[in-house]
Amino acid sequence: MSMSSYEKPDFWAQKAKKEGYPARSVYKLQEIDEKFHLFKGECRVLDIGAAPGSWSLWVLKRLAGKGFLSAVDLQPLGMKPPYENFFFVQGDLYAPEVRQALLERGPYTIVLSDAAPATTGNRIVDQGASESIVEAVIAYGLESLAKGGSLVIKIFQGGAQGELLKTLRQDFDQARAFKPQACRAESFETYLIATGFKGKTKE
Ligand SMILES: C[S@@+](CC[C@H](N)C(=O)[O-])C[C@H]1O[C@@H](n2cnc3c(N)ncnc32)[C@H](O)[C@@H]1O
Repeated sequence: MSMSSYEKPDFWAQKAKKEGYPARSVYKLQEIDEKFHLFKGECRVLDIGAAPGSWSLWVLKRLAGKGFLSAVDLQPLGMKPPYENFFFVQGDLYAPEVRQALLERGPYTIVLSDAAPATTGNRIVDQGASESIVEAVIAYGLESLAKGGSLVIKIFQGGAQGELLKTLRQDFDQARAFKPQACRAESFETYLIATGFKGKTKE
């Protein structure tokens, strides 16, 4: 029986292993940054759904000791990043105490979310759970982003994606969907990228 592409060690997984990252997803963030130029100068970053920790590790390397990273996941990180400008909380992004711990470390220049619900195999149920996470992450962004800030959110394609982009365009100069090449071909995930946060008062 041949292995599905979820089981085969692919190019991106092998590259991640060689470069010391716990997951191949790091190259999605790298590609998003190359295209949208999110990291400029000293940044404060929030990483939601951070485990096993590739995005966080990449961000910390990118910050090079300047700026700050807060991160959250239900799971522990698969590594201990050797950086002091880093705060990690293990918990649920919906929990009020987690929310408070993350918001009090803002404002942020960039809010990232690679968070994904545990999938059930039922596309409608999974899409609904993904959209709930997206809505919660947008709320984090609106509450904690500095003016001019950016938001990157994973979403399972379809469903309310168009409506969510419309909502984002009210608060950001630009918002669009983008699927990095490092996403698995059969995966139905994509990313909503919103840049130029207009600020809480939308001056
Ligand atoms: C694809 S993984 C993230 C990979 C990560 N960006 C990396 O590069 O290592 C998705 C993560 O979302 C987390 N997650 C899902 N629902 C969550 C929730 N309600 N609160 C916090 N984390 C959640 C999962 O535990 C999982 O670790």
